[in-house]
Amino acid sequence: MPRRSRQRNRSSCQDRPRGSLPCPRDGTWTDPLNARGFEQVVESRAEPPRPTHPVPAALERFLGTADLPTPFLVLDRNVVADRYAALAAAFPDATVHYAVKACPEPAVLDTLRALGSSFDVASPAEVRLALDAGADPSTLCYGNPIRSPADVATACSAGVRRYVTDSAEDLEVLAMHAPGARVLVRLLVPDAGSATPFAAKFGAAPDEAVRLLRAAELKGLHADGVAFHVGSQQARPRAFASAVGDALGVAARAGLRRPVLDVGGGFPVAYRTPVPGPEAFAAAISSAVDDAVRAGLVDAAGLLLEPGRALVAEAGVLRASVVRVSRRPGIDHRRWVYLDVGRYSGLAETEGEAIGYVLRVPGRDGPCGPVVLAGPTCDGDDVLYRRTPCLLPLTLGQGDTVDLLVAGAYTASYASVGFNGFGPLTVHVL
Ligand SMILES: Cc1ncc(COP(=O)(O)O)c(C=O)c1O
Repeated sequence: MPRRSRQRNRSSCQDRPRGSLPCPRDGTWTDPLNARGFEQVVESRAEPPRPTHPVPAALERFLGTADLPTPFLVLDRNVVADRYAALAAAFPDATVHYAVKACPEPAVLDTLRALGSSFDVASPAEVRLALDAGADPSTLCYGNPIRSPADVATACSAGVRRYVTDSAEDLEVLAMHAPGARVLVRLLVPDAGSATPFAAKFGAAPDEAVRLLRAAELKGLHADGVAFHVGSQQARPRAFASAVGDALGVAARAGLRRPVLDVGGGFPVAYRTPVPGPEAFAAAISSAVDDAVRAGLVDAAGLLLEPGRALVAEAGVLRASVVRVSRRPGIDHRRWVYLDVGRYSGLAETEGEAIGYVLRVPGRDGPCGPVVLAGPTCDGDDVLYRRTPCLLPLTLGQGDTVDLLVAGAYTASYASVGFNGFGPLTVHVL
């Protein structure tokens, strides 16, 4: 979850409604209407976060001149290339498998392929996208262990030779439908500190992971190494370091002296708060590998990365329009701002307010006030931010443009095909 500042915003306290209840601890206050049974509204009075990095120039130029129907996502391939170069430079000995799910736009895949990236895929359809981008199927990593026998057979006949697994049941399917394939066993590791944790949906406990690696060899598969994922938008390099130690411990117990070590994705980007750069993660991972080698657990480890968010988030800006600004007397002292994009048209990561996009309103300056930000559909869950501080201009009105920055990851790929008649997110690529 994004951390919220505890700093009190003195000037905007003036618009605290009469009768609201100040919270003694952190400058938040609670709307007394909660007593009538409305969902509890606790709002921070913190300064709105400012963008921590400027919007890339090409995106600004496009947005400055484009007169296109909203909502849309615009992506800059050069930014993707820059982020790939930075990650590859921080991890010179690793192979990079871009996680297609983060942004499966063919132009993004083409760009990364041309730079030498391979791909982490999660379904036969993603295998097809990667192949269409020119990937060699034998370099793909099928990282999603939830798949049907038909999915495995399709991937195998397309030439995919590497699979991540985490259960005996999936191992049976692999042995049957992808004989001889290379198998990485996904270890369950702590994902605290991640904005969107996996909450134990994937990964085997250490003893089971050792059993699976041994069983793979007995079933005619090749036990290649260990994989993990410390949760997406993971800002703590130490989370990676401790998972590396655990993973290499499992590899050692399974008798792998030179395992592949798939450290997953999770590398964070600066939404509302700064995050460590790729070098910090590389240093933590490499020193944990060195420790394991010094301790005699393994002789070496072949690093594999599966970044998604870190390669594409900063390449995208999502442009939306205001459909309505409502005052809601007797319900909420804040204005409710409804955009033409919401939870179901690309902003799925606002669930639980996990990802706090930075907002800007081009062309509107002046005093701001707090808003609740919501999407356009008739679904009650289609509210983006109730608690995350959102201060938008007091002059904001219907038809105004709102940009969500750092929005290239997990937006277009999450948009529904047409809930309430709102279609998938349009994507423009520069
Ligand atoms: C197996 C796997 N690898 C890589 C990723 C990419 O993660 P991120 O976008 O946090 O880098 C994911 C994301 O869910 C994943 O499930």
